[in-house]
Amino acid sequence: MKFVRFIMKNAALTSVPKHIEHFSKFSPSPLSMKQFLDFGSINACEKTSFVFLRQELPVRLSNIMKEINLLPDKLLTTPSVKMVQGWYVQSLMEILEFLDKNPDDHKTLGEFVDALVTIRNRHNDVVPTMAQGIIEYKESFSQDPVTNQNIQYFLDRFYMSRISIRMLINQHTLIFDGNTNPVHPNTIGSIDPLCRVSDVVQDAFHSAKMLCDQYYLRSPEMVLQERNSKDKSQPINIVYVPSHLYHMLFELFKNAMRATIETHENGYELPPIKVLVSLGGEDMSIKVSDRGGGVPFRRIENLFSYMYSTAPAPQMGEHSRPPLAGFGYGLPISRLYAKYFQGDLQLYSMEGHGTDAVVYLKALSTDSVERLPVYNKTALKNYKVSQEADDWCVPSKEPLDLSNFKVAK
Ligand SMILES: Nc1ncnc2c1ncn2[C@@H]1O[C@H](COP(=O)(O)OP(=O)(O)OP(=O)(O)O)[C@@H](O)[C@H]1O
Ligand SMILES: [Mg+2]
Repeated sequence: MKFVRFIMKNAALTSVPKHIEHFSKFSPSPLSMKQFLDFGSINACEKTSFVFLRQELPVRLSNIMKEINLLPDKLLTTPSVKMVQGWYVQSLMEILEFLDKNPDDHKTLGEFVDALVTIRNRHNDVVPTMAQGIIEYKESFSQDPVTNQNIQYFLDRFYMSRISIRMLINQHTLIFDGNTNPVHPNTIGSIDPLCRVSDVVQDAFHSAKMLCDQYYLRSPEMVLQERNSKDKSQPINIVYVPSHLYHMLFELFKNAMRATIETHENGYELPPIKVLVSLGGEDMSIKVSDRGGGVPFRRIENLFSYMYSTAPAPQMGEHSRPPLAGFGYGLPISRLYAKYFQGDLQLYSMEGHGTDAVVYLKALSTDSVERLPVYNKTALKNYKVSQEADDWCVPSKEPLDLSNFKVAK
């Protein structure tokens, strides 16, 4: 029996590249916030969601699996990246099993929810595992700017794809597991149609503050202001995924607190972190301002690199406390969350003074549409960028020897 199972599993494995090839030919279908809400409204149809997902999940998985294969061999063969790749193959195979099942069968629908939960749990540690793979690669091989650029390009797309796949899985499992959310009964899956932005700001601030108090035994206060251009008397609400907003703000607060404390180490008082939430016709923006000494302009783009952090690498272990800073993934992943529904995250810093971090989100849910990577010729071209000579002069470090230019008298 064991032998038969082994043979069947191997047979399924050998057909995986064929499936990846097939599904990667389709472009992912981005959903709008409205479509997400429709899947979860009163006439929510589990069958429709099931039929959509059993096609869409393999498409999104296969599109990104094609890109994993484009990574440098030396990175692909690290144990961590191999492990991540294995998880993707396994999950793809598990979803494909539902392709020929009957959507009218209740048992099938129940099994699908269970399969999605298993897949979500399997992929819980993708980010730290992939990060580990990059560290292994960085330690063993010298890097060149082209490879670094490719890895940055890949990770942005890979993590964005992961955010989107988890969003689809969360919506389906939360809506169709038969329970309502006891804490937030009005949420539709993970979306809050009336997400009160200031409440999320407060939550994120308090969590970061607790962490900061543990580390530094002190923490700055917050001053929060709201500007609602639509109706001054009303608090600002948007249709959004509160957990995504929380993630971004928590990361920004941790950074702002660390910078504030390290810059005012000997100061008796800490300058507060100022937050401004503003709602306009098109954008809902949140500015987090600190007086933590800022960052030199030259380094700003580096801060969004997956290979960069000024904090010492944290020790991974069961009993270690969650670090206030460490992997250098806070900003790049937060920016992806903002971009996922067509927003952005930008840093404006003045060295010597402090930093403003601004999260831009769409004010209207009709503008909030998923932003998804697609595997195509343009993507392929981006991995092939070769190192070309710079078309701006590189200033010489040596003083210019003017004697070479002397004209003989
Ligand atoms: N508000 C800020 N003021 C000064 N420096 C900042 C600020 N925000 C970020 N930085 C710098 O940017 C770097 C990268 O930030 P990022 O949040 O991405 O990673 P990290 O804080 O080092 O680690 P973690 O992944 O735990 O957040 C930080 O190490 C810090 O040097
Ligand atoms: Mg950080």
